Amino acid sequence: MQLRLNHISKSFDSQQVLTDVSLGLETVHTLALIGPSGGGKSTLLRIIGGLEYPAAGSVELDGQAVRFDEAGLLRHRRTIGTVFQAFNLFPHLTALQNITLPLERVHGRPAAEAEAIARQLLARFRLEAHAHQRPAALSGGQRQRIAIARAISIKPRLLLFDEPTSALDPEMTAEVLDVIRELREEGRDFILVTHEMGFAHRIADHVALLANGRIVEAGPPQQVLDQPTTPQTREFLAKVLKY
Ligand SMILES: Nc1ncnc2c1ncn2[C@@H]1O[C@H](COP(=O)(O)OP(=O)(O)O)[C@@H](O)[C@H]1O
Ligand SMILES: [Mg+2]
Repeated sequence: MQLRLNHISKSFDSQQVLTDVSLGLETVHTLALIGPSGGGKSTLLRIIGGLEYPAAGSVELDGQAVRFDEAGLLRHRRTIGTVFQAFNLFPHLTALQNITLPLERVHGRPAAEAEAIARQLLARFRLEAHAHQRPAALSGGQRQRIAIARAISIKPRLLLFDEPTSALDPEMTAEVLDVIRELREEGRDFILVTHEMGFAHRIADHVALLANGRIVEAGPPQQVLDQPTTPQTREFLAKVLKY
């Protein structure tokens, strides 16, 4: 996909969270967004997903600018699949219902069709046995796989993952990263915020480091992760790779 972020700024109250963020990628399949906590990664992802509006600047996907008005955002959000760190799922609904509800309510799919899609995805992610369980009865890895199944059920043009494994222990992290790698191999386009540098290196075709609301460095992983040119990138990588 083609992705253009043009001079995006955003503040919350008096705090400037993003400052003149620009990134132009003519073809990108996987963009990894990395950087220190509080640097603005989630805010940028939410703006790209139409969950937040920028104070200034624009977002273009495949040459199409996102319209940051109510109707434009509703339309845009329906084409994007999002997976957050945790607490993604509706706690009172079963795994199956977590997938069928948005398909029916937001995307207007008939109930039988929504259920067929959901069952197929649950089978694909080896979750059939858990179709009628609520999130609280499932492991963190299973919950995130349901969240991913739900995100792809709507056939999004772009998937957004915001630290999808940060709340998981290592075994479950591997389960979820395996699924993300499969999606990559299928040719799906996504943006991934992650602290898993090894994974980012293997999977991303572009990496951007965001710190203090600015893009400090961007390029292919072999450049940004192996031969960083800015002191801020080096310092960040030294910290996350220390142990
Ligand atoms: N809804 C919000 N209201 C007020 N401040 C926010 C909100 N969302 C994020 N922030 C602030 O914006 C800054 C960047 O946050 P965030 O985008 O979550 O960074 P990151 O994901 O890189 O950790 C932080 O200082 C955070 O406290
Ligand atoms: Mg974040």
